[in-house]
Amino acid sequence: MDGKVASEPRAVADIYDEPWVAWTLRTAGTHLHPGRELATVQLAERAIQFGFPAGGKVLEVASALGGPARFVARHFSATVVCLDMNPLMQNALRASAWAEGLGLRCLPVLARSERMPFADCSLDAAWSQDAMCHMDKPAVVAEVSRVLKPGAVFAFTDWIARQPLSQEDMDLLTPLWGFPSLLRPAEYVALLDGSGFELLLAEDRTPTLAAFRPGTPWDQELFEHSFGQRWGEAEVARQRAPGEAWQTLAGSGKTGVGMFIARRR
Ligand SMILES: C[S@@+](CC[C@H](N)C(=O)[O-])C[C@H]1O[C@@H](n2cnc3c(N)ncnc32)[C@H](O)[C@@H]1O
Repeated sequence: MDGKVASEPRAVADIYDEPWVAWTLRTAGTHLHPGRELATVQLAERAIQFGFPAGGKVLEVASALGGPARFVARHFSATVVCLDMNPLMQNALRASAWAEGLGLRCLPVLARSERMPFADCSLDAAWSQDAMCHMDKPAVVAEVSRVLKPGAVFAFTDWIARQPLSQEDMDLLTPLWGFPSLLRPAEYVALLDGSGFELLLAEDRTPTLAAFRPGTPWDQELFEHSFGQRWGEAEVARQRAPGEAWQTLAGSGKTGVGMFIARRR
């Protein structure tokens, strides 16, 4: 079925709830994507090669808990406009940005990526990591294209379909992750090209990320016990399930992560 979801996806706001934030901050930190901070560094290294600017005003599409935003603010001396529709995420981002002295350069904006509250041609670059999978991708790429200045670089990673996904695959992913679709790399390339971007890089990052195995910390059992006491035992299984589903599909070669860098024409 080529990555398209037939059934109603679970609402994204329901996934990223309070226990989810508590679980994720402890288990993954503030970089909510496969490869964690390492993947952010790798995207930055590639983006620099294609002229990602220093000192600019950078849009981050779906900034979540703020790990990438703080990294971009610090390493590119940028002011990052942190767009996300979830106030829980925005609160956590704001706290960590101020704690790191970056409060004036990580600016939370509560909005949907499909309708960005920014003027045309107003931003110097755009960034996103593994979040557009949740969204109406043609609408979001069109909005990024609209708000970027001509010549601006858009660097992002996202979950991709590496093979046509079956209904069974989507039935595993949809309730847990709320994806309306996963694109094949060629579909992303065509979407960028048709939305006013010149493609600079399209790369399947799955093999590199598969090698990243952070392991289990010694105090995981203690953490899960106290998490279970706070949120209920069923929550532990609920929090584990999305990651396990991703491992299953990525491990079988069906899904993965793509890196894309493009320049606004
Ligand atoms: C996997 S997290 C993003 C991870 C983040 N980019 C990172 O690398 O740390 C997904 C985020 O997308 C946000 N989100 C999902 N759909 C959205 C939409 N249509 N508009 C704005 N934010 C959205 C969610 O609220 C959530 O914070």
